[in-house]
Amino acid sequence: MSASVITVETQENVSYKLIIQRPPSGLSLQGRIRVPGDKSISHRALMLGAIAEGETQIQGLLLGEDPRSTASCFRAMGAEISELNTDFVRVKGIGLGNFLEPVDVLNAGNSGTTLRLMLGLLASHPGRFFTVTGDSSLRSRPMSRVVKPLQQMGAQIWGRNGGSLAPLAIQGQALTPIHYHSPIASAQVKSCILLAGLLTEGQTTVTEPALSRDHSERMFRAFGAELSIDPETNGVTVTGPAKLYGQSVIVPGDISSAAFWLVAGAIVPGSDLVIENVGINPTRTGILEALALMGADIQRENEREVAGEPVADLRVRSSRLRGCTIAGDIIPRLIDEIPILAVAAVFAEGTTIIRDAQELRVKESDRIAVMAQQLNNMGANITELPDGMEITGGTSLVGTDVDSHTDHRIAMSLAIAALNATGITTVNRAEAAAISYPNFFESLTGIIK
Ligand code: S3P
Repeated sequence: MSASVITVETQENVSYKLIIQRPPSGLSLQGRIRVPGDKSISHRALMLGAIAEGETQIQGLLLGEDPRSTASCFRAMGAEISELNTDFVRVKGIGLGNFLEPVDVLNAGNSGTTLRLMLGLLASHPGRFFTVTGDSSLRSRPMSRVVKPLQQMGAQIWGRNGGSLAPLAIQGQALTPIHYHSPIASAQVKSCILLAGLLTEGQTTVTEPALSRDHSERMFRAFGAELSIDPETNGVTVTGPAKLYGQSVIVPGDISSAAFWLVAGAIVPGSDLVIENVGINPTRTGILEALALMGADIQRENEREVAGEPVADLRVRSSRLRGCTIAGDIIPRLIDEIPILAVAAVFAEGTTIIRDAQELRVKESDRIAVMAQQLNNMGANITELPDGMEITGGTSLVGTDVDSHTDHRIAMSLAIAALNATGITTVNRAEAAAISYPNFFESLTGIIK
């Protein structure tokens, strides 16, 4: 049946439309899925491998466009990174402080993590000059959140709008350590400053208002950096100059990718899915807590620890969902899952309120505006709030033309919404999914029964 539910129409070999036609008799989702490697951990494994001494071996790397951008930037500065492959990637590091000056612009593509984390390393590299840019989405995203604290450390960075928009030019220097109180809970900000701290003599500290994902901290320690953590202040201190040594990294499946299946399994009647090998680091499991609050039937099976990160298989069976309020400290722990949570809320009874999520407005797209517009076009009842959404559940969706706005998480969220919409839904610019989930639509086809 699945072949007739999903059709892909390629346009000029680059863009494609995903056409989803729900049969009048309905459908359900059944089977086991392995999601691709965690995007945040994949970036960090490539970066730390590149600046460590010796060899790093990575298993389970995400082969999405974003880690490819990271690999190409670090290759341009002298790291030897083998062909990217899920089974095994070998990185021969160049050692901290040894970047070659790249002869061309470093291009981070669509990846905020590549650009923001890399800036910490570039700014602290004495005697080298760098230029960095990204695609049109990344060139409109705010860089001042990392540029300002780096400038407080003495960094020299130039760009449009006072250095807040890429393209940026960086003259690397020896920096001075700071204690930075970040006004936002952002792992990209925290990691950028800590990466700058690796080459900076003394103690560099970052505190944040709520705890953001801690993959950098875990991996810094594994690679040999001296790090202290203060849970009271959500503070992390790194002592530089550090020496990092190549490691073996096993990347777990990405809970942000698993989230699409968790919601799909919960909202499509009669579904029963197992998502294998998912990273369940507590700084990332806000989605499990939110779905539990909504009444989803999700079980953790086979919990284990793999290379310093907790992992489990997640089983989801469809159930009736109810609206809830999602706000406060949980937001950084589910920030990337809010587009798909909005889809869950559309199919829940009652109202769901999402607040304190203004960060969504400066992601790969304005995810508050785009999700509200696109789902409302299908018949949902969503009101935009400055920092979130109010979603009145229980309306039925009708298939129509929707658009990803070239945002990977929007493309996948709309495809999942379409499974419960009557008629035909066309997701335009669906190719964006490849940023974080190259085989998403093939996996979807495989579980439709
Ligand atoms: C990421 C941090 C988050 C997240 C992004 C990946 C990371 O961004 O949204 O997809 O790998 O550090 P912020 O740090 O801007 O919240």
